[in-house]
Amino acid sequence: MSTSAEDTVEWMLAPLAGYTDVPFRRGCRRCGCRFAFTPLIDGCALVHGNRHNREILARGEDEEWLGVQVLGSDPEVLERAAALLYTMPFERVDINMGCPVRKVTRRGAGAALPLTPDLALRCVDAVRRQCPDRALSVKLRILAEEDAGPTVAFARRLENAGVCALTIHGRTWQRVYAGPVAAATIRAVREAVRIPVTANGGVFSREDGLRLAAITGCKAVMVARGAIGNPWIFNELRDATATPPSHAQVCEVLREHIEGMLSLYGEGAGLREGRKIILAYLCGRGYPRPLRASVSSVSTLAEFDELYRQICATAAPESPTPYRQRAALTVAE
Ligand SMILES: Cc1cc2nc3c(=O)[nH]c(=O)nc-3n(C[C@H](O)[C@H](O)[C@H](O)COP(=O)(O)O)c2cc1C
Repeated sequence: MSTSAEDTVEWMLAPLAGYTDVPFRRGCRRCGCRFAFTPLIDGCALVHGNRHNREILARGEDEEWLGVQVLGSDPEVLERAAALLYTMPFERVDINMGCPVRKVTRRGAGAALPLTPDLALRCVDAVRRQCPDRALSVKLRILAEEDAGPTVAFARRLENAGVCALTIHGRTWQRVYAGPVAAATIRAVREAVRIPVTANGGVFSREDGLRLAAITGCKAVMVARGAIGNPWIFNELRDATATPPSHAQVCEVLREHIEGMLSLYGEGAGLREGRKIILAYLCGRGYPRPLRASVSSVSTLAEFDELYRQICATAAPESPTPYRQRAALTVAE
């Protein structure tokens, strides 16, 4: 049974490029996810126009709380991007300071931005000039693994610059998405600042989430890869008695997700992007390998319908809960 302390944790859906669009979030919302973010949007692409912006920025009619995340390292561009974003219906604008992708860090953005802290602070200032009170946050990685000092010092500067909340991913840029999550450093940041700190990294189950919340003392925990192909993780996180989805539920939610992608992106792009989504639903749930292998050849609606028919007709899988690698949490002595 859950205790009252567990019940107070807010479980948030992380921004995930290529994933957390409207159809993805719809599944998570159905499982009780209240707080969610769009995938990151590049500040330049927003200011100059890009055909994917509409899809990234789309919001479902019934979404209660939605943050948008912006990427960039040029304060002028970010200010213009923020001017646009603050006219849109988002509860929060978040600045990305954690993306490890080379084409991003090469231009000093994402995970590289905290390494030029003065520029990072100018970026925060530029966005803040456009933003109403308490609607600007930053998501960043820890800056060092053993020593909480650099992350704490930078977090304090962000707080002083007027940021209203921080999300800390407990892995360094060098670790990308693997390896231990430095829960102790997240806790040190939480203790050092007055603004809310959300803990992130390695949450693939209720047990992971509660451990991260307990060690860090954070009231909010952000789920990222744990929600890919598994929106039910939000049921599990909220309710100790929640049961894994049945085969019929997996089929129903998968179908709804892909139909949402078809209407957002059209048939070609929807199914191109949809293949990794279909695989994510099938992965680790005991569906036979040949069925999973056939996902890669789906590129038309007729092919999807045929695959879907085969998925539905497959005998109930043995293992309804996907297996995911658990990250170790590190705690200072
Ligand atoms: C495919 C993928 C896309 C991601 N996109 C974003 C993004 O757009 N913005 C962001 O701040 N973090 C992004 N992240 C990082 C996640 O939000 C999260 O910080 C990271 O995956 C650690 O959490 P986890 O161990 O629970 O997955 C992405 C991660 C992955 C794997």
